[in-house]
Amino acid sequence: GAPFVQYRGEELFVEDVRLADLAREHGTPLFVYSRNAMLAALGAYQRGFAGRKAKICYAMKANSSLAILQVFARAGCGFDIVSGGELERVLAAGARGEDIIFSGVGKSRREMRRALEVGIHCFNVESEAELEVLSEVAVDLGTRAPVSLRVNPDVNPLTHPYISTGLKGNKFGIAHKDALRAYQRAAALPGLRVVGIDCHIGSQITQVLPYLDAMDRILDLVTQIEEAGIPIEHIDFGGGLGIVYNDEQPPAADALWQRLFQRLDARGFGGRQLMIEPGRSLVGNAGLCVAEVLYLKPGEQKNFCIIDAAMNDLPRPAMYEAFHQIVPLARPTAQSQVYDVVGPVCESGDWIGRERSLAVQAGDLLAVLSAGAYCMSMASNYNTRGRAAEVLVDGAQVHVVREREDVADQLRKEHLLP
Ligand code: LLP
Repeated sequence: GAPFVQYRGEELFVEDVRLADLAREHGTPLFVYSRNAMLAALGAYQRGFAGRKAKICYAMKANSSLAILQVFARAGCGFDIVSGGELERVLAAGARGEDIIFSGVGKSRREMRRALEVGIHCFNVESEAELEVLSEVAVDLGTRAPVSLRVNPDVNPLTHPYISTGLKGNKFGIAHKDALRAYQRAAALPGLRVVGIDCHIGSQITQVLPYLDAMDRILDLVTQIEEAGIPIEHIDFGGGLGIVYNDEQPPAADALWQRLFQRLDARGFGGRQLMIEPGRSLVGNAGLCVAEVLYLKPGEQKNFCIIDAAMNDLPRPAMYEAFHQIVPLARPTAQSQVYDVVGPVCESGDWIGRERSLAVQAGDLLAVLSAGAYCMSMASNYNTRGRAAEVLVDGAQVHVVREREDVADQLRKEHLLP
């Protein structure tokens, strides 16, 4: 696992902080993040890009908590956003407009307007219809919108079908065969200024090959587009690099980019301005969720370990049958038994881990690992459960970066009938 999460003696720590102390002080479920784990993950990309022209735009959908955005903003990152809400969040965390790129298939006029007003670096446009609307919005504001077209390279990312995005037949991007025409359209529209090209083939990718294939397909297009007289200032290769949840073996970011630069250099594109949009690989293994065992429930076919975190806090197992390691905060002494670890939500799909060997009793604390990405940012209030608190650890320092949501927070915007 991640070196920022480890047992010292018999107890689990994040950096220099004992997790049991955090749970006692802040309650559970509790998300705990390691600032230095994030910076280390970012460091691997920075090493991979040393001496190159490349900008790392953190895909903030992975975890959009303000303090986490701040960590990346202070480290010099840009941001990939997908909504007006994310735009306001990242501005609140101190990002500048020019450090923001805006992806997503369904941008509204209002979102486009606001993004133009704050001067974002570019819109990653996902359809020809969106080009037309964006041009109109920009003309209304007396400006030109910087655009990069998200092209669907039609390569198989070899990942879970729910999170693969670069194949024909999904809603993302402009088909490779239509891309040149779309660029010509974009270049002709009065409210647009072509600045780049973009692709993103999927998430939790653990192999190099899909990236190489996508790169080849995109570079072929760049050549064609430029031959048609439309210069491409930057090439954005998206995000998608996987992390270790269990026994996956994804390449390290620097190793991946070493391979990719070999190809870029060989094709004469090594000096180009590049961008990437990593999310999970920057935060996934920098976070975990501490939960308390509420009840053990032996059953005829299965034993259940019922914890106080649920699918509303950790939606990935329910949504994708995703695997997260679950470990005790205190190294066990007793004999272990096999449990399905489940939450209190009223759904059979509310499970966090299946058939896990654990030595636990009610009242024990567990950590659900690799919970830094796509957990809190996907958390909901289902069953009127308040969203968890979050703390950020930095060495021996602890910062509460989000308070636990209470019922009053949840009822705040509702109105009783007269
Ligand atoms: N760029 C675009 C256009 C994206 O759609 C995404 C993720 C990223 C970048 C960042 O990808 P990453 O580096 O995080 O793989 N909720 C799912 C993952 C959904 C990913 C959506 N797009 C999960 O929990 O596995």
